[in-house]
Amino acid sequence: MANARREQWSTSFGFVAAAVGSAVGLGNMWRFSYLTAEKGGAAFVALYLVFTLLVGLPILLAEMTVGRGASRSPILALEHYGGRNWRLLGGLFVLTGFLILSYYSVIAGWTLRYAGELIWHGVPANPGDHFSQVSQGWNAFLFHVGFMVLTMGIVAGGVTRGIERVSVVAMPALFIFVCGLALYAATLPGSEAGYAYYLNANFANAFSMDVVVSAAGQSFFSLSLGMGAMLTFASYLSRQSDLPREAIRIAAADFGVAFLAGLMVFPIVFALGVEGDVSESTLGALFVALPEAFASMGLGGRFVGIIFFLALIVGALTSAISLLEVVVSAVVDGWAWSRVRSVAVAGGLITLMGSLAAWDLNLLDAMDQIANNILLLLGALLLSIFVGWVMKEAPEELQEGAGPLSWAGAWRFLLRWWVPLVLLFVLFHSVPTTIVNVRSLVFG
Ligand code: TRP
Repeated sequence: MANARREQWSTSFGFVAAAVGSAVGLGNMWRFSYLTAEKGGAAFVALYLVFTLLVGLPILLAEMTVGRGASRSPILALEHYGGRNWRLLGGLFVLTGFLILSYYSVIAGWTLRYAGELIWHGVPANPGDHFSQVSQGWNAFLFHVGFMVLTMGIVAGGVTRGIERVSVVAMPALFIFVCGLALYAATLPGSEAGYAYYLNANFANAFSMDVVVSAAGQSFFSLSLGMGAMLTFASYLSRQSDLPREAIRIAAADFGVAFLAGLMVFPIVFALGVEGDVSESTLGALFVALPEAFASMGLGGRFVGIIFFLALIVGALTSAISLLEVVVSAVVDGWAWSRVRSVAVAGGLITLMGSLAAWDLNLLDAMDQIANNILLLLGALLLSIFVGWVMKEAPEELQEGAGPLSWAGAWRFLLRWWVPLVLLFVLFHSVPTTIVNVRSLVFG
């Protein structure tokens, strides 16, 4: 394979910025806040943290170990260590990336539109009606196309000149925006109710299977796991890089931004008394409740809103890049197409598929549930089995560049037994409920 000429990140920060860029996105702000609201506040957050540490981190390390070890795109990397049959898992990764990006870009399109509207017109008069008008149909489609074109432009630039160059600027900027907004939220009179809701656990809720499944799904989605995105990014790392150190940085930054997003969303929503909107609408929570809050803050609210939606756009863009890169790298390596041609064809097909999600909010919701509650969990399960049982070199490969690790054996043990068992248990509950949910979303 064309390993000799494969691109590499130019700095270690470049890789971390790109990987954090992949992890931090709509999942941390949009999805995390609406799930936290829907699933009962702090108990959900606590479970999500537990899953991130005990399941997310071992899988993140597994993806990075396969990716850097093989320095190939997902399908070829799995074949390299596991033989031809494991190519199927790589195929599942690529399909999942395809599906996620197609609806992710529609939501990202909403954020583009909202930022533009706040800049040029201000806050809409009736945020609820406004959301239902612009979230589906031609409006949503046009902004979805716009967002895909942006994403494709960056990925076409390549790993260092496109992805890395954007990420090293975008990620620090996003972090500053989110910190600023969380600090601002603390100054609002009445914000205490938001903190109380967000930070006081009602653990009775945490024991419902539905909440457990959502917390597991969210920890994978948020860390971009289960479809080879981190695998692909790690495939551009040099063998001197310290995988555990980078993985901890990535997970910490990802959880940090989600937690900060909660520290901004809930105080704002409660201080302005719009919490009813958050618990009522699910997918649209942020897009209805926050504009409503911004509207009652006057000119300052408009400014805060612009910063908020800019942060969302930046996060969404760097995540979308990683989703597209999985598909594109598979095409570049597998069919020996040029990067530009691969981007054009893969991006074009994803844009088409996304038009379904742009047409109908229920379809978007259904795609999100299939991807998160089934495909990512399945991908992670199979990858865990792969690294735990099939890839003999895994412990050595993990330690390459990091030096001897006393816990390398324990890590492989987790991947052999603990992670697959947890995932099987979660899948056992999530597959039937997801099928029921999707059926009712799609067929009414
Ligand atoms: N993690 C991103 C977010 O939180 C979304 C994302 C990007 C993703 N790449 C992924 C999710 C790969 C799953 C798999 O918004």
